[in-house]
Amino acid sequence: MLLEMKHITKEYGTLRANDDVDLSLREGEILAVVGENGAGKSTLMKILYGLEKPTEGDIYINGELQKFRSPHDAMAKKIGMVQQHFMLLQPCTVAENIVYGHEPKKSGIFFDRKRAAAITKELCEKYGLSIDPSLIVSNCPVGLQQRVEILKVLYQDASIIIFDEPSAVLTPQEVGELLKTIKKLASMGKSIIIITHKLSEVMEVADRVMVMRQGKRIKEMAKSETSIEELSFLMVGRHIVERKIPPQETTGTVLDVQDLVLSGSDKKNILDHFSIHVDAGEIVGIAGVSGNGQSELIECITGLTQITSGDILICGKTIVGKTVGERRTAGCACIPEDRYLWGCAKQATLTETSIMAHQREPAISRYGILNTKGIQKFTSGLLERYDVRSGGLSQKTGELSGGNLQKMIVAREIELNSNLLIAAEPTRGVDIGAMEFIHSRLLDKRAKGDAVLLISSELTEIMTLSDRIYVIYDGKVAGEFRKQDATEESLGILMMGGESNEPKAV
Ligand SMILES: Nc1ncnc2c1ncn2[C@@H]1O[C@H](COP(=O)(O)OP(=O)(O)O)[C@@H](O)[C@H]1O
Ligand SMILES: [Mg+2]
Repeated sequence: MLLEMKHITKEYGTLRANDDVDLSLREGEILAVVGENGAGKSTLMKILYGLEKPTEGDIYINGELQKFRSPHDAMAKKIGMVQQHFMLLQPCTVAENIVYGHEPKKSGIFFDRKRAAAITKELCEKYGLSIDPSLIVSNCPVGLQQRVEILKVLYQDASIIIFDEPSAVLTPQEVGELLKTIKKLASMGKSIIIITHKLSEVMEVADRVMVMRQGKRIKEMAKSETSIEELSFLMVGRHIVERKIPPQETTGTVLDVQDLVLSGSDKKNILDHFSIHVDAGEIVGIAGVSGNGQSELIECITGLTQITSGDILICGKTIVGKTVGERRTAGCACIPEDRYLWGCAKQATLTETSIMAHQREPAISRYGILNTKGIQKFTSGLLERYDVRSGGLSQKTGELSGGNLQKMIVAREIELNSNLLIAAEPTRGVDIGAMEFIHSRLLDKRAKGDAVLLISSELTEIMTLSDRIYVIYDGKVAGEFRKQDATEESLGILMMGGESNEPKAV
């Protein structure tokens, strides 16, 4: 056996993040580790990569006992990790990032730029990945940044490669590329551990699957011996049932986007005479391949970007020219796409994060003075009702696991009691249990008679929840469907820029 982790236990205070976990990995094998948010997957991988020390348990490589004091020790044993949040040097080039830490030198002292670019090219050819070595990392989309991370690990000659939720940040196309890369690496003899929430990805790449729940290893099996249904049952500990959503009357328009134009730096419009509306009591989905104007649409509505022409109204009143704060007061809540960038401040405590935009509510402050007791009660209430698993009210927001942070932001935005909720990729990176929970909260919002604009690159999510669906392509509305008329095929064709023969709806 190439790698064995035996009886690994990790305690953080009274919390057992890992509880007597065994893991083994053969050469050239792809092992998927699945489990709900907080199940202990990242902790186990951090232990393997030398970022955390286990409270108990041992790691063996080729039967030899290891003591990793840091990632440096793990790397020396050819263990590499593609992190959940990238650790790249943003202002530097792709090549500089790949060789960082082990730079090629001219005359033994000077950084050899040419050699670094050549090394990058060689690696790309060897592993069938393509990237321009001279690109500046901050200009690369996340999919490419991840490729840089992978190349970096390969440059360090890792033979065991850990991927911690690599697809959570990617578009469906990028995910396809990544899975191909992972299979290719395994076929070249690399041994892979991949953590993911997406069971379809597990079924596509894994040889073996290990399920974790509440810090424990629940079960392990060959991929061929299991199914998506069994895995989701094992992960969550109960069966997930398909949802039946009753139809509901709508009343009046809440969000009205009229002939919106947002011009880009060249002559092309990013949003091109874009008109949509969302009524009270309905969920309206925007389906589309990401990068077709969805992010800009959200920025135009929330006030982060000024529009070129057209109008945006909330409950009949224009919000164009208003500040972000004024728009929030006018009834616009938003679960942002990038929760780390726009949803919170990483250094803020959970209490601070939870009251953002709630600060003027009577329970939180009066006459500009914060009510500490009230705030604590408010935050504990949110954490409890939305099942955010945390280390307490004063924990730093950036320390929450991805899924728990997402639930925290969903909680805060839903509790704003706004007429409109914009939900952008509300379940990206969360497990099935949390996804079901977030979907229920969005449906509660609809049941209360509020309007929900759902933007998601997951077609199944759009089709399950939406009463009406618009397809966005190249900044334009490419089609509009009532729920009952939408099929995956008809939406898919329009999403790729094709023409649909389906009846154009409503
Ligand atoms: N540095 C830490 N301090 C305290 N608790 C932590 C720390 N890291 C993780 N935890 C807790 O350990 C549990 C497992 O977390 P994690 O391994 O990140 O889960 P997963 O990756 O499966 O979502 C969670 O309850 C998490 O809050
Ligand atoms: Mg994790």
